Amino acid sequence: MARLCPLKDCRADDIERLLDTAFGGDRTSRTAYMLRDGTRFIRELSFGVEQHGTLIGSIQCWPVMVTSKAEKAPLILVGPVAVHPDEQNSGHGHTLMQATLKAAKRINEPPMVMIGDAEYYGRFGFSAEETGGWTLPGPWEPHRLLLRNPARHPLIGEGMVGPDKD
Ligand SMILES: CC(C)(COP(=O)(O)OP(=O)(O)OC[C@H]1O[C@@H](n2cnc3c(N)ncnc32)[C@H](O)[C@@H]1OP(=O)(O)O)[C@@H](O)C(=O)NCCC(=O)NCCS
Repeated sequence: MARLCPLKDCRADDIERLLDTAFGGDRTSRTAYMLRDGTRFIRELSFGVEQHGTLIGSIQCWPVMVTSKAEKAPLILVGPVAVHPDEQNSGHGHTLMQATLKAAKRINEPPMVMIGDAEYYGRFGFSAEETGGWTLPGPWEPHRLLLRNPARHPLIGEGMVGPDKD
């Protein structure tokens, strides 16, 4: 039986092992890691799924911001979202996304950004429609830079996304 838990209660080693299995050992060179460099995952928005005492899924959220010369606007970076390859397509990804979105609702639904497949994340309200003016500190595919902003918080149309270390 799978069980949702706060990620803060999971062992850091188990999280890293799961992420290596889901994304490969070179994952930390990806642009998504540059986006949140030097920040800590947001405890109330990050979750794990355990099955028989083993971590088989995780979702992490991070404080980032989009900045222009004159302004900055806070965002939540969602990801990585990872489900162990042996357990994929059983609804765990859905459970993790819903847990994060439910927790976000309690804090006024901050705008969320992620790098991922719109074919999957579109069902949770993410799309690339409003991210065309943003740049990232490393390579990215524009159609995979996704935003979810149901509360329509004001954002910056043209700017650079990067870590929010404040
Ligand atoms: C992407 C991921 C988190 C989805 O979690 P999951 O538990 O396997 O998926 P769910 O059971 O919630 O959903 C399954 C459905 O999503 C679809 N799906 C899964 N990954 C998809 C993707 N990358 N693109 C499009 N559809 C996808 C499946 O085909 C299935 O569709 P169906 O409902 O029509 O049958 C998981 O497969 C994973 O960890 N993949 C490897 C790591 C990764 O790419 N993470 C995302 C980038 S942050």
